[in-house]
Amino acid sequence: MSNLIVVAILAVLWTGTIAQGPPLLANSNVKATAFLDRDTPIQGFFGQTFLKDNIPYIDIPDKNIQDVYYYRFSVLQRHLRYTTAGTGYMITEFMQPVDYAGPFGTIDAAAGHHIEEAQWLRGTFYNKDYIQLWTRGPGDSARYTHWIMNAAATAANVTGDVGFLQAQLPGMVRMWHQWDYAFDPDVGLYYVNPLWDAQEYSLPGFVTTDGVGNELERTGPQTYRPSINAYMMANARAIGAIAAKLGYLRLSSEFSTYARDLQKAINTLWDAADQQFFVDAIRAGNPGFDPIQGREQVGFYPFRFGIGLDSIHSEPATRQLFDPDGFFTRYGPSTLERRNQYYDPNKSGCCFWQGQSWPFSTAHTLKSLASIIRSGATSVTAEQYHDLLSIYATTQHKDGVPYVAESHFPEKDGWSANSSNHSEHYMHSTYNDIVITGLLGLIPRADDILEISPIIPPDWTYFALENVPYHGFLITVLYDEGGGRYNTGPGLTIFADGQPIYNGKGTSATVQLPSNNAQQPDANYQAPPPLEVNVAANPYGLGHWPRASATYTYRMDDPYKAIDGYLFYDSVPDNRWTSYGSPNDDDTLTIQLPRPWNLSDVVLAIYADNTNRSIAGTIACPAAIEITDGNGETLASISDYASKCLPNDKSIIAFDRESELDTINVNFTPQDGYAVGVCEVEMWAPANTGPWYNAVDALAVANTTVTFDQSAGTSFGAVLAAYAATSEIEFSGIYSATGETATLRLDYKYNETSEVSLGVSVNQVVAGNVTLQETVGSGYTGVEVRGVHLLKGSNFVTIYGGGDGVFFAGLGVL
Ligand SMILES: *[C@@H]1O[C@H](CO)[C@@H](O)[C@H](O)[C@H]1NC(C)=O
Ligand SMILES: *[C@@H]1O[C@H](CO)[C@@H](O)[C@H](O)[C@H]1NC(C)=O
Ligand SMILES: *[C@@H]1O[C@H](CO)[C@@H](O)[C@H](O)[C@H]1NC(C)=O
Ligand SMILES: *[C@@H]1O[C@H](CO)[C@@H](O)[C@H](O)[C@H]1NC(C)=O
Ligand SMILES: *[C@@H]1O[C@H](CO)[C@@H](O)[C@H](O)[C@H]1NC(C)=O
Ligand SMILES: *[C@@H]1O[C@H](CO)[C@@H](O)[C@H](O)[C@H]1NC(C)=O
Ligand SMILES: *[C@@H]1O[C@H](CO)[C@@H](O)[C@H](O)[C@H]1NC(C)=O
Ligand SMILES: *[C@@H]1O[C@H](CO)[C@@H](O)[C@H](O)[C@H]1NC(C)=O
Ligand SMILES: *[C@@H]1O[C@H](CO)[C@@H](O)[C@H](O)[C@H]1NC(C)=O
Repeated sequence: MSNLIVVAILAVLWTGTIAQGPPLLANSNVKATAFLDRDTPIQGFFGQTFLKDNIPYIDIPDKNIQDVYYYRFSVLQRHLRYTTAGTGYMITEFMQPVDYAGPFGTIDAAAGHHIEEAQWLRGTFYNKDYIQLWTRGPGDSARYTHWIMNAAATAANVTGDVGFLQAQLPGMVRMWHQWDYAFDPDVGLYYVNPLWDAQEYSLPGFVTTDGVGNELERTGPQTYRPSINAYMMANARAIGAIAAKLGYLRLSSEFSTYARDLQKAINTLWDAADQQFFVDAIRAGNPGFDPIQGREQVGFYPFRFGIGLDSIHSEPATRQLFDPDGFFTRYGPSTLERRNQYYDPNKSGCCFWQGQSWPFSTAHTLKSLASIIRSGATSVTAEQYHDLLSIYATTQHKDGVPYVAESHFPEKDGWSANSSNHSEHYMHSTYNDIVITGLLGLIPRADDILEISPIIPPDWTYFALENVPYHGFLITVLYDEGGGRYNTGPGLTIFADGQPIYNGKGTSATVQLPSNNAQQPDANYQAPPPLEVNVAANPYGLGHWPRASATYTYRMDDPYKAIDGYLFYDSVPDNRWTSYGSPNDDDTLTIQLPRPWNLSDVVLAIYADNTNRSIAGTIACPAAIEITDGNGETLASISDYASKCLPNDKSIIAFDRESELDTINVNFTPQDGYAVGVCEVEMWAPANTGPWYNAVDALAVANTTVTFDQSAGTSFGAVLAAYAATSEIEFSGIYSATGETATLRLDYKYNETSEVSLGVSVNQVVAGNVTLQETVGSGYTGVEVRGVHLLKGSNFVTIYGGGDGVFFAGLGVL
């Protein structure tokens, strides 16, 4: 193995945590251990700085599984969208917004998968921001069924950040009760139609309509399903466990009881008499609670959440998984058993769950299989697990290279739902989480024990999992049967932050971690202040702030795409500003913020398509860059940029000095014969931690507009007009270290004599109303909201309402 760096251990320059914002170029070659080649595995991917900074590397005898592993981190990277200062990152399902998505393109259906996959990034803020978008922010978790609370608890088992998880408890309880309406107390189970279980055209729809092809066939009838009930059981158990750790005995017993009762009630969905499988029971006209005829892949979901891990359930269920008349197909598992009359492997387009192979379901199923194998309840072998994982990896290809779209034909090589400019690199499943926790066996747990329990074929003589973030350490696990591959001795060797902590025979181990990263006692937990924020991102689009404009723009490549928070470098979908076709010698991209921030650099994500030898590219790194402020003063000037530029990656351009800026002009001189392109401009500044928050930094949810009013009492004058009764703004990133009961003061101006009542909610919980009176003269005045409960960390404060002549300057925490 020539590319293996056979040095023992480099000095530990840097370990577990990553600060938010600007990209970590300085850290890109920092390694806690350096056994594996950092460059070759990611050669074909864009955004290599991000990958080097964030991902654990692996080395396994199965090239197919390994290639898809690196690809899937490039998929995750494409879906990390920056929303706005104070709200931070989210994870998208589609690379571009779809009209049925919630705020910023959020869709709760696969959020559990998102969190489980992103928990292996060294930047822990991606998941924290995203989890808070659900627990406190505007993310709507009452649309599709989900297991977000359980996933957040799993992620805390990986990061060891118990304090953050515990601070999310009130939000999790709120999210749980949003589903009360779908609970049937008579049977003790939840019901939903398959559409809201994110599985259109599922068996219940076909059975109810007998396949006549109407809307009911698509949405399906209300049905008690294994999926939602397993999710809710796991969510309740997670909430109960957090409450128990905090000593909230009543809450903990309430949620443990929900979990226990649900776990019992799910047995009602086990068709013991006939199919020996967890199946649907359609709600209407079914007084006998008859099970549906037909096994669906949702029947595998409960096992991964700890349900049915005994031979009575696991044995017959896994038999179906490997049965060619059941779910076993070449590119499967299929979502419906093959012997069913409604099974159709050939249908394409969105969104059929009558057999099509969905990574969403395969991911759940592989986790269930790992749980079943570890429970010892069946005779399923590691080879069988490897077979199924290999099928999953093979399925994730297109034209011979790794690729994932929405759904795949179960029996033939092709994606059944893969529309162009829409389904590319679809983020609706986990894969790397399966490789790490299943195949390579790093089992996340709450205590200080590192548990390694791989499910690998017995003939594997080596594997490596390098620099995986775990409980604040970077862990490296090397298995080397003969000792000649990594030269650390035969057997299993484990490092924490570059220091060896274990060497032993066999492939499994439980190892005590060095204790220096132990969690603070719960009651003393203080939420760390937010770090850097990207103030250039505009999640709302044209007509909103910040603004982007350019001296020339190719018609497909609106400048707004350079500040939309999406960052990927693909040619399709298009997510860039370019000067393609420009008649000018040089072109300028201008970013305007509604108010100044202290800035000392800018991050440019440069697009280039001339790096691919198989196409005649037209966009290349710029020859030179000059950056000026709103007055034309130079901030940075690099005349030989082409030689320094990282194409299709992020670069930091440092300014000559830090200054207060509300405008930057980035002037590009192209190389001869080429145009220039920018996928994203990021402007990172220290986060505002209060006590005063500007209204123009808040989320402009609905019917508000930035306007300039010099009487606002701020030097820059930018305020928000809330001009309609339906106006809504949301202050995010309202920081509290310890959690507190506070008084909020909203500074406003109002010029009419009739009063206006505004609703106020904090972290999506109603806090009360305030009344705006006509303000005297032209000045702003404050109205107080008392007794507001702020949680530890970042809070969201939403103001509903407004009217003609209502302006907000900001919010203070008194
Ligand atoms: C699917 O297509 C194959 C040929 O492409 C055909 O043999 C098979 O019968 C079809 N299956 C169904 C259920 O239509
Ligand atoms: C989807 O993929 C299949 C197989 O790779 C291909 O036949 C089909 O044309 C693709 N459809 C679209 C819209 O890209
Ligand atoms: C791709 O999709 C986006 C978002 O739906 C749309 O705005 C854009 O026009 C599409 N591009 C093409 C080339 O169809
Ligand atoms: C976290 O780890 C503990 C074992 O330490 C386990 O009991 C618990 O189920 C895990 N939580 C989740 C949500 O996986
Ligand atoms: C910029 O920093 C200076 C010095 O710390 C401070 O006085 C000023 O308020 C800051 N400006 C902004 C817009 O934050
Ligand atoms: C290079 O371009 C070809 C043709 O568009 C494409 O198939 C291939 O994936 C590209 N390679 C890379 C590394 O982007
Ligand atoms: C206010 O926003 C709602 C949706 O958020 C929209 O339907 C309505 O047209 C908006 N009204 C105005 C006056 O912009
Ligand atoms: C509180 O404010 C909201 C938004 O303007 C309004 O719809 C509601 O009627 C108000 N409630 C009270 C009690 O004034
Ligand atoms: C209040 O301000 C709004 C918006 O500037 C304006 O349209 C309206 O005429 C003003 N009303 C009065 C009474 O001045």
